[in-house]
Amino acid sequence: MDQKDPRHKVVQSDVRVVTVPLVMVQQELEEVNVQMHIASPATIKKDTRCLSIVGQGSTSQGKDFDEEALDDDSLEAAVIQRMCHRVIKSNPVVLESEELYQYIPETSVYPREPEPLKELRNATATHPSAVFGTSPDAGQLIGMLLKTVNPKKTIEVGVFTGYSLLLTALSIPPYSKIVAVDMNGETYEIGLPFIKKAGVEHKIDFIHSQALPFLDKLLEDKQNEGSFEFAYVDADKGNYINYHERMMKLVKVGGLVLYDNTLWGGRGFVAKPEESVPMGKREVRKATIEFKKLLTTDHRVEISHVPSGDGVLICKRVS
Ligand SMILES: C[S@@+](CC[C@H](N)C(=O)[O-])C[C@H]1O[C@@H](n2cnc3c(N)ncnc32)[C@H](O)[C@@H]1O
Repeated sequence: MDQKDPRHKVVQSDVRVVTVPLVMVQQELEEVNVQMHIASPATIKKDTRCLSIVGQGSTSQGKDFDEEALDDDSLEAAVIQRMCHRVIKSNPVVLESEELYQYIPETSVYPREPEPLKELRNATATHPSAVFGTSPDAGQLIGMLLKTVNPKKTIEVGVFTGYSLLLTALSIPPYSKIVAVDMNGETYEIGLPFIKKAGVEHKIDFIHSQALPFLDKLLEDKQNEGSFEFAYVDADKGNYINYHERMMKLVKVGGLVLYDNTLWGGRGFVAKPEESVPMGKREVRKATIEFKKLLTTDHRVEISHVPSGDGVLICKRVS
């Protein structure tokens, strides 16, 4: 790129530079139905006037690019802008204002985030599925609820690298336990050193399994019924209705069950018309809407739907 190009100067002076995992680039392209091949993780540079992508690949307009700045008004730039917006926010979020989203973690979450969690979050940031991690702002809410409930036994569905798991382990009393299930054991291994370093591994019973059969197995033992005081469900969104039925047996009356990603998709897809939602996300959007409908008529729970992170639905079992 020409060093005298004014866009380049802007990039050099005041930019946010974000390295975007390839998988995220592909998801965005699929959403807007743009054919753009990016050969390696791309670095996005953005300020209010200039967008550029540093990487290698080719675009739908047949251009090859290699360390090329894209015009603001090009289709590709629109895609990049969306990626920047998403990545700078670091996680799917419901708040549409970047400034407001940054204000919340910067002024209330990051200054209070326990060091082990910060380290785990940073270690996960370069993972291709980094967006899976529970948003730190939602995490702060979950931590506060955990400390209010003081559960002896908690259960988690969907561990990934363990942000919410470590958060739970740090928030519950010393002799309390967490049963955590995930069908992927490899991602748990990424977070495990941080869990060990924090000295809370003894609280965790990690189960490498599909969640539904595992929950059913737990329920075969009547002693597990009503034995948990807190549950966090953050996996396999299309199955939330099925998880809820299991949780209504496993969690005691008075206990809390939290469901993550219930506004779904980082941009509140549940509240948008189906046509405006990318094809690949419609099925889960529909399941999430149906899940919410079911909860509003489920008298076993009181509910509060909180627009934190990607939407956290809090249920308190009352019967
Ligand atoms: C959104 S991530 C969980 C993020 C985690 N709570 C955190 O804070 O980092 C979802 C996880 O659920 C797991 N998962 C998806 N479907 C599953 C299923 N049917 N059974 C068990 N785990 C599943 C995935 O392997 C992934 O690690």
